[in-house]
This record gives sequence, C-alpha cells and structure tokens, in this order.
Amino acid sequence: MEIITQKVSDSRINQVDPLDIKFGKIYSDHMLVADYQNEQWSKAEIVPYEDLVLSPATTCLHYGQAIFEGIKAYKTPSGEVKIFRPYENWKRFNLSAQRMGMPDVPENIFMDGMKQLIALDRDWVPSSEGCSLYIRPFMIATDAFIGVKPAEEFKFIIISSPAGAYYAQPIKIFVHDKYTRACAGGVGEAKAAGNYGATMMPMMEVRKMGYDQILWTDAVHHKYVQEIGTMNVFFVLGDTVVTPDLKGGTILAGVTRASMIEILKEKGIKIEERPISIDEISAAYDAGQLNECFGAGTAAVVAPIAELHYEGKDMKVNTPKENSITDMLKKELADIRYGRIDDKHNWMYKVC
Ligand code: COI
Repeated sequence: MEIITQKVSDSRINQVDPLDIKFGKIYSDHMLVADYQNEQWSKAEIVPYEDLVLSPATTCLHYGQAIFEGIKAYKTPSGEVKIFRPYENWKRFNLSAQRMGMPDVPENIFMDGMKQLIALDRDWVPSSEGCSLYIRPFMIATDAFIGVKPAEEFKFIIISSPAGAYYAQPIKIFVHDKYTRACAGGVGEAKAAGNYGATMMPMMEVRKMGYDQILWTDAVHHKYVQEIGTMNVFFVLGDTVVTPDLKGGTILAGVTRASMIEILKEKGIKIEERPISIDEISAAYDAGQLNECFGAGTAAVVAPIAELHYEGKDMKVNTPKENSITDMLKKELADIRYGRIDDKHNWMYKVC
C-alpha cells in the first residue's frame, strides 16, 4: 500500500529544548493514520500532527476497545536514526489486537509507515545521552455506535514524542495486596488501554502516601508479584537475577525485559524466570540478600527501585551501587542503542 505524505509547512521543532526534554509533553510534526473499514485497511497517510475528529458515540470512548505500543528511535554519533527491536512490538501489537477483537495491522502499514514517519521527522530524534524519540503506535475502535458489540471500523495511528528520562531518580514502590491489575484469562498480557485506566485510582492513593508506582500481585493470593504497570520487574537475590515468568498470561512480555534476559545469559549471570512471592523477597531482604531491584520498560528503560513497601514494612534497597547489574544492563543497552558497540543481535532497525 502506498503511504501518501502531506508535509507541514512550518516545523515546530524549535519548541523543543534539547537540554530539558520531558517525557510525553510535545509531539513531532507528523503522524501516520490508517483506516480499517469493510474488513480491510483502506488507506494510510502521513499528515501533520493534528486533533482527531470523532463522534461522541465512538466505541473506544465507551468500551475501551483500544491498544497501544511503545517503541524508541535513537540517533547514533554519526547521525544515523535507528529503532530498537520494532518487529517485536509489531508482533506484540497484533497479539494485543487479537485479544481485543481488533484486526491485525499489516507489516506494510506498521513497519513501513513507521519507517517513513520517523525518516520524515528525523530532526525530532534527540541525540543527547538518555534521550530518544518515543514512538506511540495505537489502534482505536471507531464505530459511531453505543450498542455493545465488537467494532467493525478502526483507526491505526502512530505519533511520536522526544523523550528524556521517564523517572528522574530511583523510585519508591508500593506492593499492592488489595487491588488487582490482571488475572488469569484476562487481558494482562495485552497492551490494552484499560489495563492502565484501571490503575489510576490505586495510583492516586499510593502517590498520596509518597510512592511512585505500584508493584501488582496476583489476583488470587496477592502474593506473587507480577509487574509495575509501566515496567517489568527484576530482583537480584544474592548473585541471581529473578523476574516473574510469563506463563499466567497476566504480565506484559516486555521487549526490554527479553533483551535484558538475553544480555544476562550472555554475560554468564544467573537469571531465573519463575513465580516469585513477596514473602520470598521479604525474607531475602531480612537475610541481606536483596541486593538490587529494578524495573525495565521501553519508556523507563532501566529504573532502579530504592524502596519496596509491603504490609507496613519498608524494604530499602541501596542504590545506585557501583558495578551493579542494574548499571551494567543500563550501559549495555545504551551502548547498543547509541551505536557505541557492535549490534551483534541485530536489534537496531535502520531508518535513515
Ligand atoms: C512503555 O514503556 O512504552 C509503556 O508502555 C509504559 C507507559 C509509558 C505506559
């Protein structure tokens, strides 16, 4: 499918302060929009970034048939623009689409469209350390119908935003044993908008208590840790890295998570993917074995966790630590992304 491009007459790039890039505050000049009707994708175009016009009856606004992805593009010292593992996000996007009763987005729209869009907005990809262009593909159900039924019309859109650090400093986490993010058979492993909407009220509660994020536990026992919502979670217990496995279908299969597991294995560091109870973490803490704890995600990259709060107990993790696994992973990923070391995995997808 040919992707038609309509360029802006004046770029807004001068609104970006390269020394103060905040996450998600400003969007690049263009966006990609594709429409699905009559069981097919009819057109895809790159147009100036603009507001959407939707009927107030639009399905996604009422019933949450909406999914998204998060991907990052980086600029190398020689000025090349490359995207980190976008095919993984494309595959995951279509898994989310299937779970939410939405159509697959074909490669020639998702991948080729994203490549053309980022090439056009290449000046928006920051080059400073820790910065990137955050790419947000998403799909919404657009039937103008408030009866409850799977929609038949959809919009696929990609927008992008220059991004600095998502968390400015090590974060404080509240381990929740009351509210639930996801349960077996639900949509926890899909990147569905509602997964995030349902966490806002508990988030407001824990923020008032001084915590940055919630570590969700399983819906049945409220014992087994799942994910942080914006990130997957890793613990270093003694000399072993542990992270919850994905078997229950309640945890997002993070691309950063998978990349870290691969790096840890290559470096000969013990890594276990398995169920982890908060009691195990608490016991490791008491035994002085909770050495490191961090979140991993596209937006946050590697986010050190300074404190875990569970049932009245504050587990303080010493951070940052020199020669830590957290720092090694952060550096290794940054070196690959900014092209400072050989990309032996072929993780970087060249745009221009
Ligand atoms: C991402 O890391 O891309 C996420 O989806 C987290 C978030 C900003 C919702």
